[in-house]
Amino acid sequence: MPKVTYIEFDGAEHVVDLPEGWTLMQGATLNGVDGIEGECGGSCGCATCHVYVDEAFLDKLDPPSETEEEMLDCTVSPRESNSRLGCQIKATAALDGLILRLPEAQS
Ligand code: FES
Repeated sequence: MPKVTYIEFDGAEHVVDLPEGWTLMQGATLNGVDGIEGECGGSCGCATCHVYVDEAFLDKLDPPSETEEEMLDCTVSPRESNSRLGCQIKATAALDGLILRLPEAQS
């Protein structure tokens, strides 16, 4: 089960064992990680699951879909080159050790 570390804007860290197939958004919201809201429930319609992916893992991810690209332009906190939406990334063994930094605000 891949371990994912979520680092909140204030520096609080949460290490979560994520069942494969769960999204990074689910891993946060179902484990009490503040800083990810997931208002639309994961349908790529709200951009409140914005995360900054550790650069070392970017090439292990599938590129964002057209819809995710559009929603990434709607994030409240600045979009960076490593910005992704947590609901669009599923946990896999290849992502073990993944580090995500959470933005200052989601909405
Ligand atoms: S939970 Fe709404 S876009 Fe990810």
